[in-house]
Amino acid sequence: MAGAGVGRGGGVEVEAVAPGRVNLIGEHTDTTGGLVLPMAIDRVTTVTGRRGGDEVRLRSVEVAGEAVVPIDPAAWGAPSTVEPPWARYVAAVVAEVRPAAGLVGEVRTSLPVGGGLSSSAALEVAVALALGFEGPPLALAQACRRAEQRASGVPCGIMDQLASAAGVQGSALLVDCHDLTVVPVALPAEARVVVVDSGQARELAGSAYAERVAQLHAVEEVVGPLRLVASPDELARVDDRVLRGRARHVVTENARVRAFVAALAAGDLADAGALLVASHTSLRDDLEVSTPVLDALVERLLGLPGVRGARLTGAGFGGCVVALCDPGTELPDDLDAWWVSPAAGAHVEERRPGST
Ligand code: GLA
Repeated sequence: MAGAGVGRGGGVEVEAVAPGRVNLIGEHTDTTGGLVLPMAIDRVTTVTGRRGGDEVRLRSVEVAGEAVVPIDPAAWGAPSTVEPPWARYVAAVVAEVRPAAGLVGEVRTSLPVGGGLSSSAALEVAVALALGFEGPPLALAQACRRAEQRASGVPCGIMDQLASAAGVQGSALLVDCHDLTVVPVALPAEARVVVVDSGQARELAGSAYAERVAQLHAVEEVVGPLRLVASPDELARVDDRVLRGRARHVVTENARVRAFVAALAAGDLADAGALLVASHTSLRDDLEVSTPVLDALVERLLGLPGVRGARLTGAGFGGCVVALCDPGTELPDDLDAWWVSPAAGAHVEERRPGST
């Protein structure tokens, strides 16, 4: 007999693992169907537990508080009102997945929480799999992107959740955010990737991010889809100087992604590094999502032997810088740096009661 409160699918023990991501290049392009080149990394969030009952009850090893979320969303209303704040992501995933049974267990992570390596996307993807989400990585990413939007109110693109769901060991992922194709792009054997935390919390990132998305869509009303604009010259029709700059970032960034993929294929780290620097300049001057702290960190990294290129990664307004380096590059001890490798995407193991 099933235990009290064990619903359909109850009793199954699960371990779901989802990686964080770092974006190599293609920043703030996913919301206009552009190109991005993230990679899933070897730092993960893991959800372990036993399915059953009618609520999801998870405690976190690293973060205070417990997520207690009834599987019937009618019991709790909007995810954005759930406490503690990290439980909002759990609630939003519950609302997307609508699991048949709850889950009691634990979350642990080797990602810095809120540190710009998509810890929230990793949490969403791991929780969705632990709750029994079934479907291909793209459908998983789409559900988790909707969950992120519900939980945070930020109109994010698909990059973070798709990188976590569809990661490929040894490769970055070239994602066309319009047709949602994912092509693995192998990193050259001599490429090393490091993420350096600026120490600057990404405050205001949500509203400034939403403003950038709205500005890009406003330009698209005038010039059509930015992903189809081949040259910044075509933006001359945009009268507003600020909006023209926003759009110029996207148009030039899409071109840089293509050039970066070609540079990797040719094993040309000098070219690839220069493209990272150009991306940062564009994010700083045209999209205006950098900060003096990020700019100074990029400059400092570029002055170090072995560093081929560096730029802010993720939404900006604080957070992390990514750098492409030669093997053996040493960074000063005072930098908060993690060397990362391209890793496989999310996966789940299920053990049924009575099975070995
Ligand atoms: C955040 C969003 C992504 C993407 C990046 C910027 O990480 O979640 O969808 O827009 O910012 O490239």
